[in-house]
Amino acid sequence: MRDDLSTLTREELEREVRYWRAQSLLLAEDFGGLRAQLASHADEVETLRAQLLSYAQDLNREYQLVRQRTGEIERLLVATVGALANSIEARDPYTRGHTDRVSRVTLAFCSRLGWKREQLSIARMGALLHDIGKIGVPDAILRKPGRLSPAEYEQMKQHPQIGAQILQGIDALVPAIPFVLSHHERWDGKGYPQGLAGREIPIEGRILAIVDAFDAMTSTRVYRAPLAMEAAMAEIVRCSGTQFDPELVPVFERLFADGLIHQALESELTLELYVV
Ligand SMILES: [Fe+2]
Repeated sequence: MRDDLSTLTREELEREVRYWRAQSLLLAEDFGGLRAQLASHADEVETLRAQLLSYAQDLNREYQLVRQRTGEIERLLVATVGALANSIEARDPYTRGHTDRVSRVTLAFCSRLGWKREQLSIARMGALLHDIGKIGVPDAILRKPGRLSPAEYEQMKQHPQIGAQILQGIDALVPAIPFVLSHHERWDGKGYPQGLAGREIPIEGRILAIVDAFDAMTSTRVYRAPLAMEAAMAEIVRCSGTQFDPELVPVFERLFADGLIHQALESELTLELYVV
């Protein structure tokens, strides 16, 4: 716009006015177009947002469903495994409740060692099934009161391998095999079936060896009265470095001192108790 309008002639002034009126109309049109564009983009953004929200909700529903199904399958598997384990105990009344107690204490122990949910789930299966191979041991040996003859003992010693062979056929239980196969190995190499020593023995076997022995000592057997837990603990400590892993024994001792073995034996056998 010109600076000094007072010097313009009437025609020039009218021309100026027409010019600026046209300019402002053009600007108004542009502005209207921009506003329309922005509005249509806002619609697109809103549609995208709604779509994303709906995808997220679908995904979440799927996830919940998968989780629910996984949980159901796991419960079913645990129930089946429990039934299998009970079938062993039904034949051997002196070990009634043994696998259940061993499972509880194994969970508490593995949890203290920092194991996560999936590993704990496998540990529970392994502990429940550790003696499943006794299915292949004759009743006359399994239920024999008193000492076994050397030949009978040889047959009894087959149970970890028989158990491992049984689990080999069930994909979901394969990860539990080290518990089953190695729970009678000894730190000093004098155990069975493979005679492994020290860290050659899978950690699963080294853990279960302690828990299994602890429960065997504290439960009633036909040929002897149960030991008090404190006495059984002292025996485990005495055999640290010969029968048991000398690094795991102190962890087990602390677990006992903290009252967590008592707690495990008294509470329901549930993973959630140990999953952090
Ligand atoms: Fe065993």
